[in-house]
Amino acid sequence: AAVVPPVLDLQDARILMTAGPTTTAIDAVRYITNHSTGRMGAAMAEEALRRGAVVDYVLGVDKGVVRPVPPRGSEHRLHLVEVRTAEEMAAAALEKLPQATGVVATAAVMDYSVASPSASKLKRATDAIALDLVPSTDVLGSLKQAANGQWFLGFAAETDNVEEHGAGKLKAKGLDYLFANQVSKLGAPGPTGFAVGTNAGILLSAKGDRHELALGAKPEIARQIWDLIA
Ligand code: CTP
Ligand code: CA
Repeated sequence: AAVVPPVLDLQDARILMTAGPTTTAIDAVRYITNHSTGRMGAAMAEEALRRGAVVDYVLGVDKGVVRPVPPRGSEHRLHLVEVRTAEEMAAAALEKLPQATGVVATAAVMDYSVASPSASKLKRATDAIALDLVPSTDVLGSLKQAANGQWFLGFAAETDNVEEHGAGKLKAKGLDYLFANQVSKLGAPGPTGFAVGTNAGILLSAKGDRHELALGAKPEIARQIWDLIA
């Protein structure tokens, strides 16, 4: 079979990405996180590398998180930085922002952080306890505020009113593009969302374009997203 050479339409791009979940510690041995595994981020990074980009990849790590596997020959163009908390993610991403031409925010950032994690292990007791949560750093918001000409693609996972919420976020966050996708409700397994190999959704642009992407493997969805914005 003929080998189709890759289209190097991102050869002059340096993409700053955020991916994976963030976590917030409760005490020395416990933490809170979400179901993100970083698979959609990995697919976006791999496709960008295939198209010739340099990728600064800020990854929230947790058990089972997926790291991008650079296509052969692109290994030197992937720069991986591993973090855990939203605050660490913001700091690491802000450091990489000045060199970036565009930002792709796939990370599932914890919206709240534990106010005062305990340095020692909390002991079991019989009474109920309450955990104080405070808003986390808005990673994408901090990057937008510090931007100097970069374009921005955000991701939104929604259980309800996907397009309406997506359009609201595109506007409120001042993004150029937003990929909104459906995630299944609690207890209802489905083909889109967390820890599954497939995805589907709507790519919205600030110019008002709207592209529905049908259910497909995450690498295929990533290819279509880059086709539309590269
Ligand atoms: N995001 C971020 N930092 C946060 C929250 C979100 O960088 N603290 C980014 C995500 O990586 C994503 C986009 O913002 O690209 C939208 O995330 P989402 O959680 O859907 O937006 P929120 O404004 O937090 O809305 P929601 O209340 O639905 O969680
Ligand atoms: Ca959120």
